[in-house]
Amino acid sequence: MGYLMGSNKIIASAPGKVTLFGEHAVVYGEPALVMSIGKRVYVTTELRNDNLVKIVASDLQLPGVSVTFSGDELIIETDYGKTLSAVAYLRGAIDIVSKYLGIFKGVNVFVRSEMPVGAGLGTSAAVAVATVLAYSKALGYDLEKREIARLGWEVEKSVQGIASPMDTSITTYGGVIKVKLLGGNNYEVKELQASTSLPIVIGYVEREARTKDLIMKVKDLMSRHPDLVSNIIKIIGILVEKAEKTLMEGNLMLLGELMNINQGLLDALGVSNKRLSDLIYAARTAGALGSKITGAGGGGCVIALAPNNQEGVEVAMRLSGGLTMRTSLGGTGAMVHSHEPHTS
Ligand code: MEV
Repeated sequence: MGYLMGSNKIIASAPGKVTLFGEHAVVYGEPALVMSIGKRVYVTTELRNDNLVKIVASDLQLPGVSVTFSGDELIIETDYGKTLSAVAYLRGAIDIVSKYLGIFKGVNVFVRSEMPVGAGLGTSAAVAVATVLAYSKALGYDLEKREIARLGWEVEKSVQGIASPMDTSITTYGGVIKVKLLGGNNYEVKELQASTSLPIVIGYVEREARTKDLIMKVKDLMSRHPDLVSNIIKIIGILVEKAEKTLMEGNLMLLGELMNINQGLLDALGVSNKRLSDLIYAARTAGALGSKITGAGGGGCVIALAPNNQEGVEVAMRLSGGLTMRTSLGGTGAMVHSHEPHTS
């Protein structure tokens, strides 16, 4: 049986991200610095004439991706080992937008990602935010960025149980931002006019744990050693303030040093592992000024600041068992398109 085509076809996209400084500590109210990347998630919504929601993941343009249905859940599995239950974020976004606007209409949703899903590049936030934007627009509403980011965060919290507003903010605004939770559901986003031409190399290894589990791991460590862990978190906050200043001044040597210190603190929080450490040290040995985990850890992505020897750093990461990815930085935040660009 075919499905009914809605009239309002909207294409929206949102970028992935790398966290430069402050992951995990951001959950405890410390600031984080985060930057969008050039790879995006595209979500197309078409309103239907009935009350059904149909979700299609088409042409993910990723090597080694398999998409399977288990019950009514769509599981996306990649070469990078991680599965992403994309449906939960898409459905969550439709429900949360419907509640917010007080309207529900059936919809066909198509999703495509240019990034490896679940590798720590903020794909779930990008899916949530692009869906919030496309569906609200299809219903005839022009939401402000602030509203889109907040609804995207609600989606992440409803699916994961726990999340900071970091990923949903950067995928909404794009560029480089500083995010800080202020308590309760309040948070602030500062858009920084920093250069987005940072010479960063991204490497990744298979993920062994989910973001939610890593956040819980840090919480558990905090409950057993509150005196130590709360101070590590505070030091990360001090480091982020210093990194913001350094980023604005464009002092790459110092920025690299701060990345290495941040990595040491993340290691102390227990979110690194041998495979990540291998990549991090390989990058440094090959001449990177600094390197660290980006995102939740437990596998996933690392970033290396390599102004002089990007290729050498990439090769070193690959020789230590990682994959590398090339992308521009500072991608535009969530946006609506007149047609879907054929990029990869
Ligand atoms: C996830 O990309 C980074 C964490 O800080 C979690 C979050 O901020 O939601 C670990």
